[in-house]
Amino acid sequence: MQTHGLTRRTLLAAFCLVGVSLAACEKKAEEKSAEPKAGATDAPAPNDTPSGKLRVGFSQIGAESDWRRANTESIKSEAQNRGVELIFADAQQKQENQIKAIRSFIQQKVDVIAFSPVVETGWEPVLKEVKESGIPVILTDRAVDVSDPNLFVTFIGADFVEEGRRAANWVVKATGGKAMVAELQGTPGSAPAIDRKRGFEEVIKSHPEIKIIKSQSGEFTRAKGKEVMETFLKGGDGPRITVLYAHNDDMALGAIQAIEEAGKKPGVDIKIVSIDGVRAAFDAMIAGKLNCTVECNPLLGPQLFDAVEALAAKKPIEKRIVTKEGVFEQAQAAEAIKARQY
Ligand code: AHR
Repeated sequence: MQTHGLTRRTLLAAFCLVGVSLAACEKKAEEKSAEPKAGATDAPAPNDTPSGKLRVGFSQIGAESDWRRANTESIKSEAQNRGVELIFADAQQKQENQIKAIRSFIQQKVDVIAFSPVVETGWEPVLKEVKESGIPVILTDRAVDVSDPNLFVTFIGADFVEEGRRAANWVVKATGGKAMVAELQGTPGSAPAIDRKRGFEEVIKSHPEIKIIKSQSGEFTRAKGKEVMETFLKGGDGPRITVLYAHNDDMALGAIQAIEEAGKKPGVDIKIVSIDGVRAAFDAMIAGKLNCTVECNPLLGPQLFDAVEALAAKKPIEKRIVTKEGVFEQAQAAEAIKARQY
């Protein structure tokens, strides 16, 4: 009997990752429903495809930032390096497009479904459909807010709350604990926008002279970052802004233009900290216009396909895989840019 091209025996073996004998497992599985479960230790293994090639469906958010483009490139090139057939879908920032793509991956009977969710909520129904199909789900970059953690096998990505804390710690250090902050938030409802705000606020809570006086979404894009910063500067609070905290480098780069057009010196009149660590942020630091970037590594391809291959080999994988990241200030930029890969 085949389940999705996956033999019943293989499927049962996938359930038995924790050292139980296959025979015992088969007996146990017969007693229970045949429905496979996704989870760190009981995830269904990918299918035995006729071509022998693993087929992975990946739904990407879009191409809103340099970070996102580097992320896409990392995933596509790693799939190619490993001989994995990648079915890639660009959702153009829309959750409904991601849901459609995920449903089409189910129909195409891919071995693994991976995606970076544009927002945190609203995934439960489609993830239940995937679970019923028996295809394992890997989340990359952003998390989902679901009541059943077994709806996905693993989440690979940065700790966004910690990134927000790092940005705030830099503000404390650079300003002596006194700042009027303008904040450019990421996409509303997205995990990085929620968590980076939370981490930043957590740290400044104990520094009463650091205040967020303006806060709005710049949707993670340069154009919107510039537009929102222009509005901040023209408003009554504009002259009071001493620090800009942008949830990504692209918005900071757009805001730098707005600050210059307003006749101010970015990096001097208004100190700027942002998140990602893309090459253009290093260029801006070398030019003295950006003060600090908190790294968020987009090169997730190797970790994603390590997880895909581990599933194929029926090896257990961690439920949470956190990427390692640093913080770069202006003084380090000229040296550090030499090693930047994105
Ligand atoms: O989810 C990661 C964030 O999404 C990056 O910080 C931002 O640049 C991107 O668009």
